[in-house]
Amino acid sequence: MNSTRFLPSGPLRGWLRPPSDKSISHRAALIAAMGEGETEITAFLDAADTRSTLEAVAALGAEVAIAPQVSWTNVVPGPEGLPPDLRVAPSLGVCIRGVGLRGAGSATIDVGNAGTLLRLLPGWLAGQEGRRWVLDGDDSIRRRPVDRIAVPLREMGARLDSREDRLPPLEIEGAPLRGITYEMPIASAQVKSCLLFAGLLADGETRVVEPLPSRDHTERMLAAAGAPIQRDGNSVVVRPAEQLGCSSILVPADISSAAFFLVAALLVRGSDVALDGIGVNPTRTGLLTILERMGAEIEREEGLAEGGETIARLRVRSAPLRGTEVGGAEIPLAIDELPLVALAACFAEGTTVIGDAEELRRKESDRIETVTAALRALGGHVEPTEDGMVIEGSGGLRGGAIDSHGDHRIAMLGAVAGLASRDGVEVNGMDAAAVSYPGFEADLAALVRP
Ligand code: S3P
Repeated sequence: MNSTRFLPSGPLRGWLRPPSDKSISHRAALIAAMGEGETEITAFLDAADTRSTLEAVAALGAEVAIAPQVSWTNVVPGPEGLPPDLRVAPSLGVCIRGVGLRGAGSATIDVGNAGTLLRLLPGWLAGQEGRRWVLDGDDSIRRRPVDRIAVPLREMGARLDSREDRLPPLEIEGAPLRGITYEMPIASAQVKSCLLFAGLLADGETRVVEPLPSRDHTERMLAAAGAPIQRDGNSVVVRPAEQLGCSSILVPADISSAAFFLVAALLVRGSDVALDGIGVNPTRTGLLTILERMGAEIEREEGLAEGGETIARLRVRSAPLRGTEVGGAEIPLAIDELPLVALAACFAEGTTVIGDAEELRRKESDRIETVTAALRALGGHVEPTEDGMVIEGSGGLRGGAIDSHGDHRIAMLGAVAGLASRDGVEVNGMDAAAVSYPGFEADLAALVRP
């Protein structure tokens, strides 16, 4: 397994556009494949997960043309006092000619490590009669539950089979669907999105009731593609559609990738980092609120909306942090960033309590276990709980060695911890970062040595 050592660093300084949003890239490829004409996707994320989605839609019959796209035109002047060159994470220009809402061909699909693909795609496929599909993926995917989508899809009439009635591989046989009202037991954007896709092909109205708001990219993008979809209080309602179409989609930079630099800049003394083009949809910005409560000052300069999503330049400088409590409605808004909250909490004064976050156990790894193990190995004082962690801040971390457990976000957390630690951090399995951010190490190094 490859291992990389991250040494304590000097200040991070620089200006970066992180890679494009993973959630939005997955959805862009899927919705483009559901359309009839061509969709041009600008700044599609070039990473293992979203490559899996491009391969999946091609296997279903969509025509996919890919061109590298690294150039970026700056419409705004650079941030004052920082090196003038904007570093841009490469992305793809993708053109997809869709198969239409009811035109996906039978196929066996390897979703790789992509949980979002595993949960969203069946929603579209389940209502297409006369065809069959099998979805499978890597070892981590084989541990990720699909009953959360299979239960409501079956209620709609779908025919699905899975291992132990719970895990991939997932077999789908297209069947006629009827609309239902589904009260989600957990706040999951993946489950919500799956059912909204299924509702496009069902008879009557499909209503998905959310216990708490979760990311709403699917709703926004389906509405932009002409789907009859609307929000009604805490539910989203979709009616059947004949066809979808959107000619272009622009993907903002991913706040979940920007998060690693935000926290690195906060923790490494003397740092000053500006991150551009970041999608700051309010259903994704929980981390900003949490860090601000911990004492961070994050400047936010909003730019023009891109593809229905507000974008912003975020600028952060290192700052002393204090412990906080994180739970309730904040959890779905920061779900993928909670490992970084735990890391920041190790450097803070006082206690941080993360609760109501049992979902962390069902991510690319059991992130309550893997974050606890990683931070303890580096000298952190972390107690796991059923639904979160309690972290006693001690102003810093010693360093040591951690294992990514094949989880991209744990690998990148280890790298950030290394820069901010006293002795450095060895990350075993750093290659996992390529799932969402293949150029992470190079971008991090560029900010340390501008
Ligand atoms: C995602 C939703 C979240 C998140 C995942 C991506 C999405 O999962 O953790 O990384 O793109 O819809 P849940 O909705 O299952 O919480």
